[in-house]
Amino acid sequence: MKNKFLHLFTGLVLLAFATSCGEKNETEVRNYRIVGNTIVFDEPQRLEGQKSVLQFTVDPIENVRIGFIGLGMRGPDAVDRMTYIDGVTVNALCDIEPDRVEKVQTDILEAKGLPRAAAYTGREAWKELCQRDDIDLVYICTDWKNHVPMAVYAMQHGKHVAVEVPAATSIEECWQLVDVAEQTQRHCMMLENCCYDFFELTALNLAQQGLLGELIHGEGAYIHNLEPFWHEYYENWRLDFNQSHSGDVYPTHGLGPLCQAFNIHRGDRMKTLVAMGTPSYNGKKIAKEMMGVDDFANGDITTTMIQTEKGKTLLIEHDVYTYRPYNRLYQLTGTEGFANKYPIEGFTLLEEKLPAGFLAEGQHLNPHAFVPADVRDKVLSEYLHPIAKEIEKKAKEVGGHGGMDFIMDYRLIYCLQHGLPLDQDVYDAAEWSCLGELTAASIANGGMPVAMPDFTRGDWNIVQGYKHAE
Ligand SMILES: NC(=O)c1ccc[n+]([C@@H]2O[C@H](COP(=O)([O-])OP(=O)(O)OC[C@H]3O[C@@H](n4cnc5c(N)ncnc54)[C@H](O)[C@@H]3O)[C@@H](O)[C@H]2O)c1
Repeated sequence: MKNKFLHLFTGLVLLAFATSCGEKNETEVRNYRIVGNTIVFDEPQRLEGQKSVLQFTVDPIENVRIGFIGLGMRGPDAVDRMTYIDGVTVNALCDIEPDRVEKVQTDILEAKGLPRAAAYTGREAWKELCQRDDIDLVYICTDWKNHVPMAVYAMQHGKHVAVEVPAATSIEECWQLVDVAEQTQRHCMMLENCCYDFFELTALNLAQQGLLGELIHGEGAYIHNLEPFWHEYYENWRLDFNQSHSGDVYPTHGLGPLCQAFNIHRGDRMKTLVAMGTPSYNGKKIAKEMMGVDDFANGDITTTMIQTEKGKTLLIEHDVYTYRPYNRLYQLTGTEGFANKYPIEGFTLLEEKLPAGFLAEGQHLNPHAFVPADVRDKVLSEYLHPIAKEIEKKAKEVGGHGGMDFIMDYRLIYCLQHGLPLDQDVYDAAEWSCLGELTAASIANGGMPVAMPDFTRGDWNIVQGYKHAE
């Protein structure tokens, strides 16, 4: 609330200043200003007593006690995956619907011979779960609008938080997550599972070992026709959200792994974006059928370009409506190499960057083509990231999008058990989630550039290079 007043006050002061100076190109619009040709959102000051959580750690938590909120399509699998990790106890379960809680108790916990967890049902019961004193981590798998209120309340009640994607739905919510994590000194990790897919991890490893040269451009996307799922979301929350929000409302699967490879807030930062959206055709049609409405804010395809402080570029796409094969793009272009995940996995590499003896006798690489299949397979196995190598077999057995979901949960628990910084911090959660409102603002202003907020408040260049803590 304080922040809101601060924004309003700053906006009014600037408006008065602009008017008194006779500047015609600075105007107060909603919660952002237009300065020259750029949209600028207000950045609240860090309050006294609040301190950065960059590289944040807490004492090792030997046995991580978890309370889960939201047991729809996603939540129960998360509970199941956690039962495969040593030193984890499922202490509480919560959903609005009692039968969803009961199904997890019987089909997962009892079926594995584990004790039943404390059960919370109804719309407000999650608060009681957060108040328990036998929970270390609150794991949130609800609809998007509940993420921030639940995460904030949990942190304010001393809990660490893991929250599904996107962590927040507006710039104000992004700041709230950052501010409360800094005020309470708690972990807040967004559960961006695509950072743990095998190809993404291998490509990250190649980049970190210099095989791609200097990374200069990346592409990522969420292209997934959700037609089979629209009817499954609880009380139609997802279509309902998209109906009233333009922009890239689900950006993190494409953006997260790129930000790790490009060392975002670890030596570089996303500085400016521009976004464009198509009209809505298919979204409008499904909304008419399911909601009886004629308007639909979310364009069928939203495309965003981001430029970093160092001048590098990222291209992000969102399309959950058209008939295209599932695609997250995931491309890294460096000065000396290239990695591409969809629709086919491949690399372009320079011979001289590979270790001696890596290629077969007399084998040569064409720098204008993907490496041959045998070299690609050897790269995929020999350059598999150490964090995936360590747990690959178990991850593939337990599953969750082919194993990446398990690696994510395993890493979260490993870092908590060893008192390490988490792989994704609250600044990542804010930076990757903020695209929603920023892209909507750019689209509303004809593709105008938007200055991306610095959620680290100037600390983006302190840590040099993204690393998984060991
Ligand atoms: N990372 C991934 O690959 C991935 C995949 C699917 C979904 N997700 C994310 O997971 C989240 C959940 O998606 P879903 O597909 O399971 O949706 P869903 O509609 O199937 O499930 C949401 C659940 O939250 C519960 N819920 C809502 N409000 C609640 C409240 N006040 N208290 C307790 N429970 C409440 C609902 O009852 C429902 O069971 C979303 O954020 C989504 O974006 C991520």
